[in-house]
Amino acid sequence: TVGNSTNIKWHDCPVDKNGRQRLLNQKGCVIWITGLSGSGKSTVACALSQLLYQRGKLSYILDGDNVRHGLNRDLSFKAEDRAENIRRVGEVAKLFADSGVICIACLISPYRTDRDSCRAMLPTGDFIEVFMDVPLQVCEARDPKGLYKLARAGKIKGFTGIDDPYEPPKDCEIALKCELGDCASPQQMADKVVNFLE
Ligand code: PPS
Repeated sequence: TVGNSTNIKWHDCPVDKNGRQRLLNQKGCVIWITGLSGSGKSTVACALSQLLYQRGKLSYILDGDNVRHGLNRDLSFKAEDRAENIRRVGEVAKLFADSGVICIACLISPYRTDRDSCRAMLPTGDFIEVFMDVPLQVCEARDPKGLYKLARAGKIKGFTGIDDPYEPPKDCEIALKCELGDCASPQQMADKVVNFLE
């Protein structure tokens, strides 16, 4: 029995991850970008994908906001739905990594235990956690979608950083720090990730 399924059997195929990685001349992995709304996750993910593209490396972005338009459209922002959101994206990211692709997942993923579960799904070293270390004050000043304003006005309940917690990573691979008036460009941040990967 696996989960709620009985009588299921795993099938292997001789064309495996190693073969696919050779074909693509790269190593499949998951780059997991976590941080508050407005911290720059999607922007850095996109800059990173462009840098990799220029280097002839195939990547694919799983963006929380986008995935919630399809695969995860049945999920809300209550804690158990966020956990399921992260679990599903973790599983999909794992499949991408197994296909040989550099999968860039960018979700708030506010709870440490959910992120750690995704890490545990992958071989050691294949999960690279990137923390957008941007103070709430900076994210709220940016407020690109006007959501912080709505949350402060009580029009969105359970907004991360306002009335729902964000648990920063304790031992992430990369922290991209940004303070008031002192913030590297998305390209510079993406560069740091590429350097780490190299
Ligand atoms: S989570 O917590 O990882 O499940 O969130 P995620 O799938 O990344 O989706 C985050 C985007 O949803 C919008 N949004 C909210 N964010 C936080 N809390 C609440 N309550 C909420 N409601 C809607 C918001 O635009 C987030 O986008 P980003 O790109 O992070 O700003």
